[in-house]
Amino acid sequence: MSPIDLFTPMTIRGVEIRNRIWVPPMCQYSIRERDGIPRKWHAVHLGSMAVGGVGLIMVESTAVLPEGRITVHDVGMWNDEQRHAWAEIVDFIVEQGAVAGIQLSHAGRKASVRPDWNYAGAAGPMPESEGGWLPVAPSAIPFDNDSLTPRELDESEIPSIVAAFRAAARRSADAGFSVIEIHAAHGYLLHEFLSPLSNTRTDEYGGSLENRARILLSVVAEVRAEIGEDLAIFVRFSATDWSDGGLTPEDVSTVARWCQEAGSDMADVSSGGNVIGVTIPTGPSYQVAFSEHIKNSANVSTVAVGLIVDPVVANEIVATGQADAVYFGREHMRDPHFTFRAATALGAEMDYWPAQYLRSRPKRIVAGESTKVAF
Ligand SMILES: Cc1cc2nc3c(=O)[nH]c(=O)nc-3n(C[C@H](O)[C@H](O)[C@H](O)COP(=O)(O)O)c2cc1C
Repeated sequence: MSPIDLFTPMTIRGVEIRNRIWVPPMCQYSIRERDGIPRKWHAVHLGSMAVGGVGLIMVESTAVLPEGRITVHDVGMWNDEQRHAWAEIVDFIVEQGAVAGIQLSHAGRKASVRPDWNYAGAAGPMPESEGGWLPVAPSAIPFDNDSLTPRELDESEIPSIVAAFRAAARRSADAGFSVIEIHAAHGYLLHEFLSPLSNTRTDEYGGSLENRARILLSVVAEVRAEIGEDLAIFVRFSATDWSDGGLTPEDVSTVARWCQEAGSDMADVSSGGNVIGVTIPTGPSYQVAFSEHIKNSANVSTVAVGLIVDPVVANEIVATGQADAVYFGREHMRDPHFTFRAATALGAEMDYWPAQYLRSRPKRIVAGESTKVAF
């Protein structure tokens, strides 16, 4: 049998990944205690996908500072209690043979909103009386008419944000994560700096693309310096703002290449999220062309994401070099054991079916031969 691309293992630095079916970061807004510490929900939610045979699980947007949370119910990595709780969860993921990654994030002007499980941050600002705070951003431009006008970060504050990413990366590595994904997409702080629609600064963090990318490149370089050469760094980008005057795939290709030079290994190619009122032509695989563009023009590895649900389509994306791997998001929430199904659909041999579940493994039934099935 010829190798099946989606089930071909890959190695990034010292990280071996058993296949190319990955789980993207997906916020759960589930920390009722408001302390950023993951508990049973995360253990079961992430653990079940690890049991299901996935190659890599990227933990949701995890705040590097309390004021960098989207909601008060977000998870965090700004203290050692959080690190300790994550380590327990990572232990189980790794025991199941999956790679554990964590998306580190600062929500910028989209911080401090009421949780909404249907759409991240659509339910309006969280008032201070209920535990909210005034968000910070590159410029004092609100996300939309319902949002608070954020406070513009002073240049002198930026190093402390970079340092918070570095400290969170240290804790993540200590907790056993082997991939750090830096969230520079969907209108959160690092994307806000990248996009001219949300960054009108006149200092060295605004103006040219190089200046707008400065904070992101510092984060990548500092995280790399902190975690050493063995672990992997991904950067999630919005390849376009879908808006005139906003980020373009060409800009993002350039920044992806700079990030690679600063120490990142993979561009995670998403889109949008920084401005409202735009038309996004969503549909099956609608962001894959951006992945292909960035992969070819910047010569970086990419992971494709967005409305990819069919293993045959995903296999083709990898086989034709449009991406190196595929994130299946909502499909994993519908079916945490999606990888089992994908293996059956593609006829892939999967020698990491969990021993406890072996009796549920589909058997090939050959016409004319009797099949002994033990229930
Ligand atoms: C419930 C939910 C939460 C999400 N949270 C995050 C997040 O924490 N960070 C992020 O970069 N993207 C987040 N996303 C976007 C997903 O990572 C992914 O890009 C998106 O769901 C498209 O992939 P899909 O069509 O396979 O679901 C979220 C999406 C969903 C549905």
